[in-house]
Order: sequence, then C-alpha cells, then structure tokens
Amino acid sequence: MAPWTRLAFVPLLAQAVSSTPVADPRHDDAVHLDQRDSAPEGYDSPPYYPTPYGGWASDWTSAYAKAQQVVSNMTLAEKVNLTTGTGFYMGPCVGQTGSAPRFGIPNLCLQDSPLGIRNSDHNTAFPPGITVGATFNKDLMYTRGVGIGEEARGKGVNIQLGPAVGPLGRKPRGGRIWEGFGADPSLQGIAGALTIRGMQSTGAIATIKHYIGNEQEMYRMSSVITKGYSSNIDDRTLHELYLWPFAEGVRAGVGALMTAYNDVNSSACSQNSKLLNGILKDELGFQGFVMTDWLGHYTGVGSALSGLDMCMPGDGAVPLLGDSYWGSEMSRSILNGSVPVDRLNDMVTRIVATWYQMGQDEDYPLPNFSTNTEDETGLLYPGALFSPSGVVNQYVNVQGTHNITARAVAREAITLLKNEGNILPLGKNDSLQVFGTDAGGNSDGLNSCSDMGCDKGVLTMGWGSGTARLPYLITPQEGISNVTQNAKFYITDSFPSDVTVSANDIAVVFINADSGENYITVEGNPGDRTEAGLYAWHNGDDLVKAAAEKFSQVVVVIHTVGPILMEEWIDLESVKAVLVAHLPGQEAGNSLADVLFGDYSPSGHMPYTIPRSESDYPDSVGIINQPFGQIQDTYTEGLYIDYRHFINANITPRYPFGHGLSYTTFNFSNPSISVVTALNTAYPPTAPSHGSTPVYNDSIPAASEVSWSSTNFTRIWRYLYPYLDNPESITASDDYPYPDGYSTTPQPAPRAGGGQGGNPALFDVAFSVQVDVKNTGSRSGKAVAQLYVELPASLGLDTPLMQLRQFEKTGTLGPGQSESLTLEITRKDVSVWDVEVQDWKAPVNGEGIKIWVGNSVADTPVLCVVGGGCSVE
Ligand code: NOJ
Repeated sequence: MAPWTRLAFVPLLAQAVSSTPVADPRHDDAVHLDQRDSAPEGYDSPPYYPTPYGGWASDWTSAYAKAQQVVSNMTLAEKVNLTTGTGFYMGPCVGQTGSAPRFGIPNLCLQDSPLGIRNSDHNTAFPPGITVGATFNKDLMYTRGVGIGEEARGKGVNIQLGPAVGPLGRKPRGGRIWEGFGADPSLQGIAGALTIRGMQSTGAIATIKHYIGNEQEMYRMSSVITKGYSSNIDDRTLHELYLWPFAEGVRAGVGALMTAYNDVNSSACSQNSKLLNGILKDELGFQGFVMTDWLGHYTGVGSALSGLDMCMPGDGAVPLLGDSYWGSEMSRSILNGSVPVDRLNDMVTRIVATWYQMGQDEDYPLPNFSTNTEDETGLLYPGALFSPSGVVNQYVNVQGTHNITARAVAREAITLLKNEGNILPLGKNDSLQVFGTDAGGNSDGLNSCSDMGCDKGVLTMGWGSGTARLPYLITPQEGISNVTQNAKFYITDSFPSDVTVSANDIAVVFINADSGENYITVEGNPGDRTEAGLYAWHNGDDLVKAAAEKFSQVVVVIHTVGPILMEEWIDLESVKAVLVAHLPGQEAGNSLADVLFGDYSPSGHMPYTIPRSESDYPDSVGIINQPFGQIQDTYTEGLYIDYRHFINANITPRYPFGHGLSYTTFNFSNPSISVVTALNTAYPPTAPSHGSTPVYNDSIPAASEVSWSSTNFTRIWRYLYPYLDNPESITASDDYPYPDGYSTTPQPAPRAGGGQGGNPALFDVAFSVQVDVKNTGSRSGKAVAQLYVELPASLGLDTPLMQLRQFEKTGTLGPGQSESLTLEITRKDVSVWDVEVQDWKAPVNGEGIKIWVGNSVADTPVLCVVGGGCSVE
C-alpha cells in the first residue's frame, strides 16, 4: 500500500497556531500553553520543574552506568539523533530515531501494536487486551507478553508500542477500550504489568500508553478548527483510577511511555510538566523514556522542559515537510541555551539506558520488515520525495508456537453469561443452524481492510493502529465444521426466509459490535461508537429475535469491543445461552469450538459491566461531539465509573462486572486472612532516599558538532537531521521567558515516591487471604476468585463500596477437586489518595476493612473482616 493512503489521520496543521518551528521559547511554548481554553476551576496543571534525572533506581544502576559511559562521549548531533524521529515514513517502522553508530546504537525501530506486530507478515494476531482481561489468568497475561516480545525481537522492533492501559474504559462508547484490559484499574494494572514483564523478558522494550485521559477518540488531536479535548481530572480520581495501571507498569520496569494526544486540565499531555516531571518521573520514579504519540508533539522547548524525551515520528506541525520541533531545532535550542544541556543529557541517557537495560546492545536484530509495503523491495524512505530503494521485507517468520497461546487466551476469555437448561455444551450430534456474517470470514478477503477498518466477517479485533494482520483466520464456521457435520450455515445478517426448523434444532446466532481509532470511520463510526451506540451492528438484535421466533433453542455468540445492549432479546423464552467471545484474534473458530462443544468449560469473566440501558451510565461518560472550540471533558463522575457507578447509583445491571458461568459449579470454603505487614501508620513510612544519577559536563557543546559542513553524506530530502547551516552564528543568552513556575532547583522528594511505581512500602503485602475452591459439579473447569475491598467510612472520604484489588484463577479442576488460592493485597490496595497530604492513606491496622471474595462484584460469598476473621455465606 502506498504510504499516502494512510495519511488520513494526520492532524492537518496540528497546532497551526504555533507552527513556527520552535527553538526559542519566545516564539512558542509559553504562548502555546496559554492558548488552551481553561478547564473548570479546580482542575489544574500546576508547573513542575525541572525534570528529575533518571538512573537512581537500583535495578537500573548498571544500565545507567553503561549509558553514562556512552553519552559522555557523544556529540550534540548524536544526542539529538536519539531523541528525534527521522520523520513520517522515513524508515521501515512506524517510527524510528536517528542513530549513533559510533557506539553501536542503530536507528531504534518503534512499531505498533499492543496485540502483535502491525503491518507485518508471518506474525501472530493475538487477541487484544480486552480479551486478555476477560481470562483473569495471570499466566496467560505473561505468556502472551512473552510471545509479543519474541515477535518484536524477531522482526527487529526495538520498541513495541504496547500495552495500552489508557483508555481505562470510562466511556462505554470509547473507540479504543478494547486495546486495554477492562474497566478497572487493578485489572488493567495487573494485566498491563504482566504483559510488560513478559515482553521485556525477551529484550524488547515495552511502551505503556496513552498517558493519560485519552478516553474518547473524537477530537483527541488538534487541527486548524479545533483543539484536542481537555480531560479535566481531579487529583484523587487521577491517582485512584487512571494513574493506577501506569504506576503498576512503572513498577514492572517498563522502558517507554507514550503520552496521549489530548490535554489534561488544559495542558497537552506531551508537555504537561505536572504529569511528566511531577507525577511520572518524580512520584512514580519512572526510569525509562517518554515519547509523544504520533504527531502529538506540539512545541519544542516547552515539551523538553516538561519532561518529554523523544518525539515521534519526529515531524513538527505539518508532517512530511522536513520540519521538526526537535531535530535541528533541538540543536539550536542547546546552542542558544534555551534547552539546558543537562535536560538533553538526561533524555539521551534515559533512552540509551533503557536500550542497555533490555540487553539490546547484544545481538538485537535490525528491522527486517517494512510497515509501508508488503512487497519485497521498496522505497527505504517513502516519505521522501526521492528515496533509494532496496529489500525491505525479508518475511521472517516469528510465529513460533504462539498460536497455542493465542488460542488459549481466546478460549479462556470466553464468558458464559447465561445457560438455561444446560443447553451448552453442544453435542456433536446436535442439529445446528448457524446465522450471521460474524460466523464467517471477510468476504473481501483476509486483511482486505487496512488496519482492520471494516466490520466484515468474524470480529477478531477492533480497528486502527492497535491491530496486526491476521496470518490466517480460523472462522467460527471452520471451527464448528471441524467438530461436527451437523451444522448448516447462513452467513448473512438478514434472517433467511427459507429456513426449516425441526423441534430439536438449535440456532447459533453470531452478532458483533466494533469500534476503533479515530483516523478510520467504519459504517459512520469515527472510532467511537457514535452511530451504533451500544447496540449490536448489522441489525444483530433483529437477527437474534428472528431466530428466537422460529427456534425454541437459541445460543447467541457475541464478539464485541465493549459493553453491548442485549435487552431486546435476552429474556426471550428461546434464548437459552449467551457466550461473549470478546475479540479472539486469529484463533477465533478453534477457541470457540473448544468451549461450544465442551472440550473446555468457559472460564472467562466480564472485564466490564453489561448495562440494561445506556442511560444507566453517568451523563458525563458520553462521547462529546462538539466540532468547534476546545471540548472540556470534565470527569465529574469522579471515581464512579463502570461497576463503581452501578453500585453507587443502586442500578442493577444486566450482568455485573466479573460475571461468568461455567459448565460446572464451584464453591468457596475455609477462608482465612493473615496480616503480612502491619499497617501501623495511616501513611507509609518515608521511603529510602534515591541513589545517585549520572553526572555530566553540562556546558554548551561546540557548534561544529551539529554543522552541516562537518558531514559528508548524501542528504535525504525531508529526513530529519540534527544539523544546521552555520550554527557558529548562534549565541547563548540566559534571557528567555521560560514557562511560569520554571525552576532549575530540584523539587523536594514527593512523599508518595521513592521507588518505581511510588514509595516501595505501598507495595508491601498487607493482607493475605486464603480460600479453598472446590469443583462441585460434574465437569472439569477453572474458577476465578475475585477479591474486592470495602474501605471503612473512618477514612473520611466517599469511596466506592467495592473495588477489585486482586484475582487468581485455579488450574483445571476435575469434579470434586479443590485448590487452595492465596490472594495478596498491598498497603496501596487498601488506601485512598489524600489530596491534602499528597500521599496514600490506609486505615491504621486495617481497622474496618472488609475483604470480599467471589465470582463477580455482585456474587461474593466470602467475607473477611480485618481483625475479625472470615466467613462464607
Ligand atoms: C497513534 C496511536 O494513538 C498510537 O497508539 C500508535 O502507537 C501511534 N499512532 C503509532 O501508530
């Protein structure tokens, strides 16, 4: 495909109001920041400077020491190279940095996506995050991460652009909620952290994204007529919901973080000093590097001072013109003194240290694929006007045995919502009639829609950059046909007129609901589900109802990106069973057949609530469609999203968060609780002080280090270089109008900080709960124990009644078999964010904390009261 066809998402003239390439803050940053509309009172982005240096965390010491060795010998050009992308379509990957070949550091390749290698070949299309969340299986979360990392490494991707833990799922119609793991911070946090650990165990660098508040797709970016929306989030809600999974990712040692396009509290995420310098790098102790989202770089000096370390894909306000806010403009900013040399040194050190931390200095492959074309040969720099050509695709097969993991994830996610009369599992001799295009393949051919930008055939993933091409697809039709000859297929969404039904026939009806990223509109939905709402696509409800009229036994299979309404048919007499198969990836049919025919019992659980009506949600979580002026998306619902809201508003959903049946039954017995680390104090003890960070000579380097006259290679037109003509003419001045509140004096250590993810004492295990789970039915299966905390009113803050904080899944239990599960929760898990003290506050000695364990948020038979023992209902 020609790269141009994918330019649709380029935010034309993004931030045109400040399109001057910026080197000198007199032209840009302060001005630019002032141009945001104001968030409502109380939603602030206070200045936080300077950027804390990386390198003080003990498990990064050796990587930083190696980086320091290298960076202290780098020229200005080499340093700038590593911070700046080479430009849109200027290399094989969706983004790449410049290189520092003298030190063996190549152009670093950055490539999507959170579910596999995007725009590639011979790769695995794993199920996306929402499916992973529904498994509630920690081993699979990790193993899938390993698989993605192995494929990244095999393709020569240095920095893989996932996992996504934002959006969190605040907006049920939000286009990209399926990329993350579910509408709960602990589920997102645990799944995200395990994914990161798995990915990085292979040497690939993981990227946690999108930081933060990117909860809707429409108007996320700026253009000539509008500014990206401002997500206005109060401090407590930020900490207890949206930041939580990022903190877990940092704690897991994630190497990279991508900022969101939108503003938070009227300051763009890629230059929000409070979010980057303050919360991420100081409070959470992030040791890796921060990159922009693609073309989400809005200013030069301002972003550098605010804690950004890498701009992607490098271009400035108007892509593909050869201009960058950094690149040669960063060189100028260093020479004229507007960006302090120590800031650039820290950016580069963070990037190089991360590269060493993952061991990429040893035998890490170079990219052997092209995101731009499927042809073997092609342009090396398709974004250039004139580009050399060469071999760009070597078609390296990186799939290994990852199909096994992909199938296991898809299978273990399948969530049984209803199973009247135990109609499931189906028998091989049952007479089946199967309806719906979602049971088949894409009629236009596998991968015929770029970035999955269509809803044709079985829905394996949403659309956008969070995708990968399917190497093959086992459709439900194939999966079912592999098991039984007694199925007749009607791959249509209109109920056929010629169906003849016998008394014992079972109808299996497939419906779906899709969404994706904003640069593609599918059937009128610009990413978010504006057109379709929470209903099934393609008149799916009518298909189910028509089948329910003719058949006395109907099984509904749903592939969906998120919450879906089923009220039109769920209570119909003949609708006996409902399976939510989420988004299964390439192994759709096999994983479904595994469960449908009873080789495995379903063991998935809903990673979000299924409502009865969209009006059950708070008004503030609707999609805001306002073409003019900056959208102020204010999180007035605070902590009350998804099940937290339903419980608080006393609304009974159709199916609660965590719900999921099995073909067998389980019970919980013998619960006990023990104190592991006593919560002697409300606030955690003071963290140990930081280790040391690299020290450099921070004087302004010689201008000749970035002079074009010192080079002798052939320039690629529009490629982003660090060089300048006549840099010797640039003089430094200390008279710059830095942003309000700018300071070079380090801030006092935040009391909630001190380690990666925050104060290490926050992660001390406070309580351990043991419970036995027994299979009391007649088939094998796996159970999930979900642990919810109920915090006491004595904390003095209005807090959601039930909050998921831990889960464990059993192995396969045969009838009568038991397993003892241990669920551990930390000090942070039982704390609230005290906005006054700026620290996490727990009930002293855990007094008054109730801990519930069960099958869903609405079915928690086990209760442990701290200090009072446990009981089973
Ligand atoms: C924009 C998306 O928001 C982000 O998730 C992705 O990684 C980049 N584009 C690169 O494709």
